[in-house]
Amino acid sequence: MHTEHIHFFDTTLRDGEQSPGCSMYLAEKVRMAKQLEQLGVDVIEAGFAVSSEGDAASVDAVARAVRGARIASLARAKHDDITAAARALEFAARSRIHIFLASSDIHLEYKLKISREQALEQADSAVRFARRYFDDVEFSPEDATRTEPGFLCTMVQTAVDAGATVINVPDTVGYTVPQEYASLFRMLRERVRGIESVTLSAHCHNDLGMAVANSLAAVEAGARQVECTINGIGERAGNAALEEVAAALHVRQDRLPFAHGIKLDEIFPASRMLSEIITFSPAPNKAIVGSNAFAHEAGIHQHGVLSNPLCYEILTPATVGVPANRMVLGKHSGRHALRHRLGELGYSLTRSELDVAYDHFVAVADRKKSVFDQDLIGIVLTHLRPEQVPSAHATASGSASQA
Ligand code: KIV
Ligand code: ZN
Repeated sequence: MHTEHIHFFDTTLRDGEQSPGCSMYLAEKVRMAKQLEQLGVDVIEAGFAVSSEGDAASVDAVARAVRGARIASLARAKHDDITAAARALEFAARSRIHIFLASSDIHLEYKLKISREQALEQADSAVRFARRYFDDVEFSPEDATRTEPGFLCTMVQTAVDAGATVINVPDTVGYTVPQEYASLFRMLRERVRGIESVTLSAHCHNDLGMAVANSLAAVEAGARQVECTINGIGERAGNAALEEVAAALHVRQDRLPFAHGIKLDEIFPASRMLSEIITFSPAPNKAIVGSNAFAHEAGIHQHGVLSNPLCYEILTPATVGVPANRMVLGKHSGRHALRHRLGELGYSLTRSELDVAYDHFVAVADRKKSVFDQDLIGIVLTHLRPEQVPSAHATASGSASQA
């Protein structure tokens, strides 16, 4: 049987980085991008080249360092943005430009102050211009889910006629619901000429907690690319979480019979690396990667899981790379256990560093019942790796006038 492929477009380094507290230095972006490559994502959106020198440098550095995934830069529908993206992506093995232009009346009237006709001309001109530099041009009608459906079709038709190869349908403000979002994709497939030769893409924000559900509804309605971020970070309530989309495709093969390139056991290492870089972890109850995602507290549940994990687990922790047999660290734990856990968290310490970490660990363990990963990361960053703590200033991102 021929199984269709779902492409994962990761925007942790762009939409994710745009969220408060998630700025990353260039070297951190490169490190994260290499982990994303290892994870098996198809496209890495590395930044918004025109927005600042830092972003342009990050896109360039990621493009040089990563050879296994396609590297994308965001751009407004402006020629200067497009040439900036082309410059930053010059050394990519495979590149894509991602052009966005608002299509909803509220954005056109109040933000861009242009008419629908002007927006169509701008989309046409930008995509045609981009095709001079790129074979792969993604076009996003921003705020698509609040755009008048007839006009959305016209805008997408314009982009397809101008040479777009991927059409993304952003739920910019996290407003849509699964059935409605799916019907947008069906509408585009029915009404836009030539749509069968482009890849349709879902891009969902989580303002109503439906980003993943909406993305999966889009897949069922014909989307073959999903845009997402590690740990679901992103503007406001975040973007669709990559780990949740990938896990759903894995666990519910019966309802979602699609292939994809994500190596599931690289999910937890990617999540941990991101938490370490941005210095905060997902909520403990966050699906798949939260610290409680595989914890069983209730006696009945513990008994059931010990008898047969399938009683209460639809996915084993090991499948998504969560280290098995996680020891609870407390004041009775020794150096060996501490070294082991820090190793799992990605820190390999010298003997003398371990001594320093252990003294601080004992102090924390005296005060608290259990010592959590966050405490351990805090000890390492504060006392051993202060250079890895991002400061509020001088990050790789700048202050581009955004969407
Ligand atoms: O949410 C959004 O509309 C975006 C676009 C730039 C695609 O992030
Ligand atoms: Zn977005």
